[in-house]
Amino acid sequence: MLQQLMSANSAIELRDLTMRFGSQTTSSVLAVDRVSFSLAPREFVSLIGPSGCGKTTILNLLTGLLTEPPEGDVRVLGKKPTAGNPDIAYMLARDSLLPWRTTLENAAYGMEVRGLPRSERETRARELLKQVGLGDFADKYPKALSHGMRQRCALARTFALDSPVLLMDEPFGALDAQTKLTLEDVLMKLWSEHQKTVVFVTHDLAEAIALSDRVIVMSARPGRIVADVPIDLPRPRSVRKLQADHRFHDLYAQLWGLLEQGVAGSE
Ligand SMILES: Nc1ncnc2c1ncn2[C@@H]1O[C@H](COP(=O)(O)OP(=O)(O)O)[C@@H](O)[C@H]1O
Ligand SMILES: [Mg+2]
Repeated sequence: MLQQLMSANSAIELRDLTMRFGSQTTSSVLAVDRVSFSLAPREFVSLIGPSGCGKTTILNLLTGLLTEPPEGDVRVLGKKPTAGNPDIAYMLARDSLLPWRTTLENAAYGMEVRGLPRSERETRARELLKQVGLGDFADKYPKALSHGMRQRCALARTFALDSPVLLMDEPFGALDAQTKLTLEDVLMKLWSEHQKTVVFVTHDLAEAIALSDRVIVMSARPGRIVADVPIDLPRPRSVRKLQADHRFHDLYAQLWGLLEQGVAGSE
């Protein structure tokens, strides 16, 4: 029955998803409380909310990596999450490059784990490195790269997997403001060329507005959905130019108000 209620053409669908850690103990933590939302194929949706409100937990639930089962239902391309699902690529904030591998070998790493043939890995990794502006750095090691370049390489590795669904957990959270704007533009270009469905977690409202088709605002823990705000700014967008657009500032004020409401409501 629940299956029938789930929309057939969603890329991602969560229905009344509830996650309680340590449910066998008295000190259990209700992390996510009856969260429902869905993403159409190729939609870019950001999740924002106070620290500890369950954003990472939601991404982990989509990957099927958590050992404790949630309540409710969650589907990725119509299927229940399973660990190692090739439909999903996951990118994290921390620099996860392997120091003993070159940029090219790092960009190819995910494909290697998935068992793609060497020649295909290398061709694809080179192409993606070019697209993120690291074409001339294929043979360099991570220690020779700036933090921004390392995250470019991580972007290349993520997109090289060619999974239809990308989960990104504050991927630019540790970058300085200027580098972050540049990387956001790189991500926008990759997303429009590769046509992926993206769930993007950030605590940066400007970043969420600049990148997204919709922004989902969560309350403080236990994470509930406060609002689902469409971002109907025209594309292609230039993240820098957007900051001079009054609609951008109106959305920023609206989201800020919703965040405050979500914190107040949980206290
Ligand atoms: N494996 C775990 N075991 C117990 N509690 C956890 C676990 N993972 C997360 N939590 C708790 O769940 C809540 C949500 O965490 P998280 O999803 O990491 O939040 P966010 O990513 O929004 O900052 C927090 O209170 C956190 O301490
Ligand atoms: Mg988190």
